[in-house]
Amino acid sequence: MSLFKKVDDLRSEFMQALASNPALSDLEQIRQNFLGRKGVINDLFKKIQEIEADRRGEFGGLINQLKLDIHDHIEARINEHRGEEKALSSVDVTLPGIQVERGTIHPIESTLRDFKQIFHRLGFSVAEGPEIETQWHNFDALNFPPEHPARDMQDTFFLKNDSVLRTHTSPVQIRLMLEEKPPIRSIMPGRVYRNEAIDAGHYCLFHQVEGLYVDEHVTMGELKATLELFCREYFGESVKLRFRPSFFPFTEPSSEMDVSCFLCGGQGCRVCKQTGWLEIGGCGMVDPNVFKSVNIDSEIYTGYAFGMGIERIAMMKYGITDIRLLFENDVRFLKQF
Ligand code: DAH
Repeated sequence: MSLFKKVDDLRSEFMQALASNPALSDLEQIRQNFLGRKGVINDLFKKIQEIEADRRGEFGGLINQLKLDIHDHIEARINEHRGEEKALSSVDVTLPGIQVERGTIHPIESTLRDFKQIFHRLGFSVAEGPEIETQWHNFDALNFPPEHPARDMQDTFFLKNDSVLRTHTSPVQIRLMLEEKPPIRSIMPGRVYRNEAIDAGHYCLFHQVEGLYVDEHVTMGELKATLELFCREYFGESVKLRFRPSFFPFTEPSSEMDVSCFLCGGQGCRVCKQTGWLEIGGCGMVDPNVFKSVNIDSEIYTGYAFGMGIERIAMMKYGITDIRLLFENDVRFLKQF
């Protein structure tokens, strides 16, 4: 075999040895085998005498090139190994992982979501209004006469320029009826404010969901059916609903709605104060005076409205006995939901 061919063979042999992805210690062995004092390259060098004199330079050049190439390849591989080792050693796999805390949905938010979902299926869209309202939207347009004691029903936070922190979500009805033509079918969730003494059952702010349906021929029967459907969806099939005659300036006739106590099933217990019933809100047929203030013809259109307190309902559902817990945002409380 020609010695020139031997150089080519050694190169292939080396490349094959590298192709098997040798470990660091194996690389050292390969280097010894090829480049060591007693390695194959040196052996070949010694045979340079056997080459015709005029080709010895060429032969020597080839071997030197092979030596350099092998050296470079091996160095490159060693560096790769060292890089991997370094990357591995910078991760301490024995350290405990970082605990990712998951939040929970606040009971008020989850109650609101349930409401929206159920009313969405009943064909109601969602509307919102400002928390700082004009007295006109909050009272006058809703048929509260200027000096009428009805205004005292709600303890109001009065602001500058004839504004108030809205005391209920009913003013959103007014905004909606001014913006849209009937048919209107919406619920209006939001925060409301009352200047009240704070205790386990009262807070200076809370949430309501208002409902409004205005069209031709809307009846009180539909109001009752809709609220009954809602209550059965929300509280369960066995819940009963009771309407008690009441008074609100913006509805005529008006009533208050009670549901049978979810805790005792109507037998009477601590939560329902032995009555078997829990009040969840007010409702009624939109008063013609309200239609007048938003320029809707009450000879053509009728409508029903309702308003429910979210905190009361959430407290019933989750068995929360102090409304203040819902606003303190103590994670020990919130984590339970
Ligand atoms: N706005 C009333 C309140 O805050 C609740 C209410 C009662 C809303 C009757 C209505 C309704 O839409 O028809 O106490």
